Amino acid sequence: MKKLLVLLVFKLLLILTLFADEGMWIPILMQQYNFGDMQAKGFKLTAEDIYSVNNASMKDAVVIFGGGCTGAIISDEGLLITNHHCGYGNIQKHSSLEHDYLTNGFWAMTRAEELSNPGLKVTFLISMKDVTDLVLKGVDDNMTVYKRTSIIEKNIEEIESKAVDGTHYEARIESFYNGNQYFLFINEVFTDVRLVGAPPSSIGKFGGDTDNWMWPRHTGDFSIFRVYCDKEGKPADFSKDNVPLKPKRFFPVSINGVKKGDFTMVFGYPGTTTEYLPSYAVEQIQNESDPARILIRGKKLDIINAAMNSDPLIRIQYSAKAASVANGWKKWIGEVRGLKRLNAIDVKRDFENSFTAWLNSDKTMYEKYGDILSQYEKIYKELSSYNMAMIYINEAAFGSDAVLLALRMRGLEGSKDASEESLEWIKKDAQTKADIHFKDYNEATDKLIFAEMLRLYYENVPKEFHPAFFEELDKISKKSTDKYLTITDYCYSKSIFANQEKFNTFLQTFSSKSYKKVVNDPLYVLMKGFLGVYQTKIMSPYDKFTMTLDSLDRVYMKAQMEYQPNRRFYPDANFTLRITYGQVDDYDPVDGVEYEYYTTLKGIIEKDNPDIYDYDVPDKLKELYYAGDFGKYADSDGTMHVAFIGTNHTTGGNSGSPVINANGELIGLNFDRNWEGTMSDVMYDPDMCRNITLDIRYALFIIDKYAGASHLIEEMEIR
Ligand code: ARG
Ligand code: ASP
Repeated sequence: MKKLLVLLVFKLLLILTLFADEGMWIPILMQQYNFGDMQAKGFKLTAEDIYSVNNASMKDAVVIFGGGCTGAIISDEGLLITNHHCGYGNIQKHSSLEHDYLTNGFWAMTRAEELSNPGLKVTFLISMKDVTDLVLKGVDDNMTVYKRTSIIEKNIEEIESKAVDGTHYEARIESFYNGNQYFLFINEVFTDVRLVGAPPSSIGKFGGDTDNWMWPRHTGDFSIFRVYCDKEGKPADFSKDNVPLKPKRFFPVSINGVKKGDFTMVFGYPGTTTEYLPSYAVEQIQNESDPARILIRGKKLDIINAAMNSDPLIRIQYSAKAASVANGWKKWIGEVRGLKRLNAIDVKRDFENSFTAWLNSDKTMYEKYGDILSQYEKIYKELSSYNMAMIYINEAAFGSDAVLLALRMRGLEGSKDASEESLEWIKKDAQTKADIHFKDYNEATDKLIFAEMLRLYYENVPKEFHPAFFEELDKISKKSTDKYLTITDYCYSKSIFANQEKFNTFLQTFSSKSYKKVVNDPLYVLMKGFLGVYQTKIMSPYDKFTMTLDSLDRVYMKAQMEYQPNRRFYPDANFTLRITYGQVDDYDPVDGVEYEYYTTLKGIIEKDNPDIYDYDVPDKLKELYYAGDFGKYADSDGTMHVAFIGTNHTTGGNSGSPVINANGELIGLNFDRNWEGTMSDVMYDPDMCRNITLDIRYALFIIDKYAGASHLIEEMEIR
């Protein structure tokens, strides 16, 4: 008996350590669930300091930057810091051959030089609160999914509009724990956000896609913006009369550096995780979805990379596209490896076996949840072919630029019977879209991609999801050596969507008869074929699957919480403000290898290679290195630290998140994870999962010593 008890205690301890540092927590609930643990790990402030209902608190200095990143406010004049890869699109928009800010960097030396970015938003959280009861009002467990969804949607609409009635705020309700809890968020959204500074890509994107998702890392991944408002301090679109925002709160910056074991906390907006899936879902991710996406994107990247290496213009045109294709591709490769290494499917199955044993021992629970796993098994089996078709539609069928343009140009069909006035409007709209599209388009490259995407779709997607025109492909095959290239040649030589000149000529003579040319265009016909498959064969079954799965997920989440009442469950990421905390820590990626927890400028010099675009270190940086001119930003060991890693559980969206020390001071900016840990979106592994943080001292060093923008440093509160 005693032995059994010891074993039990041991097992419990194992479970507790297993969950160490895993979790993305809701800021207003810190006090409730794990503030004690945070303090035990070294945090010195109070839960009130993190999130306060009545006073300014840390949460007031954390913002959503644009649509998918986080940012931190670092001065009382609205100065904001985020990642370089988050500001990239805006830096690119201001770049031209004369002012190539991507290549050379940009630094506003006065307020007047700061550049406005129409369309860029910065969102502050005003408050959040639990509205579960209101959202679920009128809902009961016996109604259909459809009924339930429609009541919830109606409730949400009402609560949201009431919450911000008569204010300039925006409301948003999000579901937590897969629909078991709901929170209302009140946001204030600023639309005059100006670019203040960005290092050259050779610093801000150093290592490019080769180093992406990897440790050791040497990327100076930061850029600086400023939030402006009207004279009353309210959000306003760009105006010369606007003034820098006086924020409720900003982060003081610490230049004391970090040591192994130091407490760290990441405060930001993690996008999506799926930690509570059944084994069947993990099986689908690991063995079907990820491999399919990896295959398609790998082929695309082979073509794009070869083209970028052959021509500097293509490099400029395709660099952002390549970065985004490569980012997912590489992450999924890491994810599959990580899930396999963890035996994730078996881990889930073991869990399900003991869960089932528990159900079998408890009649009420069995009645509530008895068939959930078999329902999952059935639905994931049925979903499989639709899931594949969906991936191939998104990634392959609409995977070439010309087909995408055709998709976006469906408005041209409206020329049929259109009035003079609306013809003019359609034409203008099409011209604007086309100009943007063709600026970053290379016909020869896109042709190769198109042929390859067609081949992949034809060979890997079940016949029931083939568009009718594939029969034409079968006819060609008898005569041609490569039917995909033959049809590609035909489409690209005839289509207006594959060539800028042809498209512009078409628009010049645009009339109410033009729709005929559009609907007979070979790429348009092909696009319509794929769209038809999506609309008639995939969309509605897929929606049904999603709805059923959503409701299974809700029930299964609740069941897991009832099964393990003592486990601290955190809700999956849903792009709402979260806290994750842990400590600075190294790791051993493979047998015989140990990784340090930090990198230094020396590593940048070691990687220097003027022949490789991603590793071409700027001369000025080399000079500063050889002169040892690091100022007050040097570590106490005399070197210039660049990045460090820790055990904070982060995901996409956490980029640009402030990384904070035990005293609530900014010590870095989160920007990535290690490759061995990318499966943390599905299953976290405390031994292998690390978040990668830019050491704030490296950012300050670049701003001050490299760019000479010391006026920005003076604006901050340096400790
Ligand atoms: N992997 C990081 C994240 O998921 C950075 C991506 C941007 N950098 C790049 N080289 N593609 O967003
Ligand atoms: N690089 C990611 C981002 O942009 C962060 C991550 O996935 O770890 O949000």
